[in-house]
Amino acid sequence: MVQRGYHRPRPPSPHAIKLNLILIFAFFFLVFIFYTRQWHLLDDQRKQQPFSDEHSQTDRMPDAELWDAPPSYGLRSCVKPTSRYKAATGWDHYMTVRSNGGLNQMRTGIADMVAVARIMNATLVIPQLDKRSFWHDSSTFSDIFDELHFIETLQEDVKIVKELPQELANVPRARKHFTSWASTSYYEDMTQLWKEYQVIHVAKSDSRLANNDLPLDIQRLRCRALYHALRFSPPIESFGKKLVERLRARGGKYIALHLRYEKDMLSFTGCSYGLTDEESEELRIMRENTNHWKVKKINSTEQRLGGFCPLTPKEIGIFLQALGYPPSSLIYIAAGEIYGGSTHLLELTSRFPNIVFKETLATQEELRAFTNHASQTAALDYVISVESDVFVPSYSGNMARAVEGQRRFLGHRKTITPDRKGLVEVFDMLENGQQTEGSSLSDIIQTMHKNRKGAPRRRRGPLPETKGRARLRTEESFYENPYPECICASKKYLG
Ligand SMILES: *[C@@H]1O[C@H](CO)[C@@H](O)[C@H](O)[C@H]1NC(C)=O
Ligand SMILES: *[C@@H]1O[C@H](CO)[C@@H](O)[C@H](O)[C@H]1NC(C)=O
Repeated sequence: MVQRGYHRPRPPSPHAIKLNLILIFAFFFLVFIFYTRQWHLLDDQRKQQPFSDEHSQTDRMPDAELWDAPPSYGLRSCVKPTSRYKAATGWDHYMTVRSNGGLNQMRTGIADMVAVARIMNATLVIPQLDKRSFWHDSSTFSDIFDELHFIETLQEDVKIVKELPQELANVPRARKHFTSWASTSYYEDMTQLWKEYQVIHVAKSDSRLANNDLPLDIQRLRCRALYHALRFSPPIESFGKKLVERLRARGGKYIALHLRYEKDMLSFTGCSYGLTDEESEELRIMRENTNHWKVKKINSTEQRLGGFCPLTPKEIGIFLQALGYPPSSLIYIAAGEIYGGSTHLLELTSRFPNIVFKETLATQEELRAFTNHASQTAALDYVISVESDVFVPSYSGNMARAVEGQRRFLGHRKTITPDRKGLVEVFDMLENGQQTEGSSLSDIIQTMHKNRKGAPRRRRGPLPETKGRARLRTEESFYENPYPECICASKKYLG
């Protein structure tokens, strides 16, 4: 129509001129819009953080983008031993273990001890659990785990007994603090101890085995131990499943949020951002008085800028909203007591009112058996977190790592790991007024997390600037990402 207007032979009427001018104007306006949009798309690709996007719209995220697992490219868990692997024989050397730490530190430590017993040709005695840690839980192994299942599942790998044989109860034991992140050859050397002792007592089980450079069969054994053998006890397992069913009955899909905004964590990390002076002081005193926390003087600002602080409830709210989760999303809070209670939590519930706790899902009567047993309530949170559609940890602790690893193992279920360092910069810009909530914030946060949703990738090696033994400490944990040893494309080892 615009074209035809230009070529009319006779002089146009004033009305037609007006119409033509409007059409020409509209045409150029459309061209202008088209090019600015193109420019913005290119711009988004070129730089990470598009700060001016007044033309782009916050399109509603498709449901699949929010809730579905990332593509796993045919990768599956694989834990079967290789053809070189021999079945265990009954060894008359025994290893007793005192497992230390919270629930997940103990779980991964126990899986490692299964591997260590195998390397050292020892019969493993069911480990003792930590009763003295911060959590003061008196639960025994069989309160938390299915003991018989543990023994039977691993019978081809390691001989496991409930107790040390009576006649060995009083023989002298080699008491060992094995070195951390040790290799296979370290434990092979340790078999020298069998010349003098029939029983070795391992005083600590956490991180006693390296993440990398171990034989494939040892790595696969660690996976069989953690993911197949170390099942929770029947009461925990069935109650956990029941809570998952109740969550599903409420809304179908849910996010499990490991909101590690608890007193011990804030005190340990020295993170007092957003807290009152009294609260900060309370946390400082707790840190001073906890002997086994070595670092006492902490600059909270520096901690936060370095990305070492758990995200606050408010920050998590902004984060999830920016990722596109609608306010009606069902969110299960996997955590103990939130520090400051409803005061701090309100900043999250104001954005996501559909937040539930164990206490919302179960009656006091039902929970009574588990409360006062921190490890058992942690186990319930673990089950609910592994089964969730989306898992979001606010901090990278033992629980977050273990849940993420198991979700990868079970088929790369969606785990969104916040880039805390990057996010803190963005949150500070929000606070300074350099940035506002809305579509541009959404773009920044979504770009930042595009590759942080739990899709398959190889386990990360050590940080580049580290040297010597410190390198081992900076490697990604084997149990956070058992790929490639226990996740593979080949059908050969499926199982
Ligand atoms: C463990 O026992 C097997 C035979 O059962 C033997 O071949 C192997 O050398 C032993 N390993 C160690 C580290 O002693
Ligand atoms: C903490 O670190 C920040 C940033 O480096 C600095 O500005 C501040 O003065 C420090 N505070 C204390 C109490 O040292």
